[in-house]
Amino acid sequence: MPNRANLCLIGFMGSGKTTVGQLLAQKLGWKFSDSDREVELLTGLTIPVLFAYYGEPYFRFLETVVLRDLTARRAHVIATGGGAVLTPANRELLKGSGPVIWLRASPEEIYARTQTSHGRPLLETVARRERIAELLAAREEAYASLCDFALDVGALTPDEVVMRILSWLNGRKRAGKEGVTGCC
Ligand code: S3P
Repeated sequence: MPNRANLCLIGFMGSGKTTVGQLLAQKLGWKFSDSDREVELLTGLTIPVLFAYYGEPYFRFLETVVLRDLTARRAHVIATGGGAVLTPANRELLKGSGPVIWLRASPEEIYARTQTSHGRPLLETVARRERIAELLAAREEAYASLCDFALDVGALTPDEVVMRILSWLNGRKRAGKEGVTGCC
């Protein structure tokens, strides 16, 4: 029986899933969880250390372990890592857990947002701009096919993103589709 009681944020690194997720959870009176943070808590290791010493496949395995737990909860806004949508099991878990929202941004926007940030092993390259374009192109279809709502976040502040999501949720409720308790 699917548990459609949460709200999941997907999107590329730097699209604002954590910031928006925290604000959205506050507005809804829900809890917030971030799958990357949960992986770090579970292992006691940072993501760069996990990638460097154990490799990406082990990180992906842990990501699924954590998402299985998070998606079984209720009234959680769940922010996922940018590559979570690549794993078929994760896609199933997210789809069954509640509305999935894609925070969409262009390669240029992502580059600008992540230019000075560190801690994302897949972006630690001198050719960051090219890497972003390459990864985004490879993932776009997965984001698009999984989401219930895609929102272009490039020109929006986190508060504006939250308002758009809330109004989408309200519209959905008015249309008699599945509502999200506490959103209106
Ligand atoms: C990854 C995104 C990161 C983190 C890891 C891998 C990816 O999360 O899960 O570094 O493959 O896109 P954020 O999207 O929160 O940066």
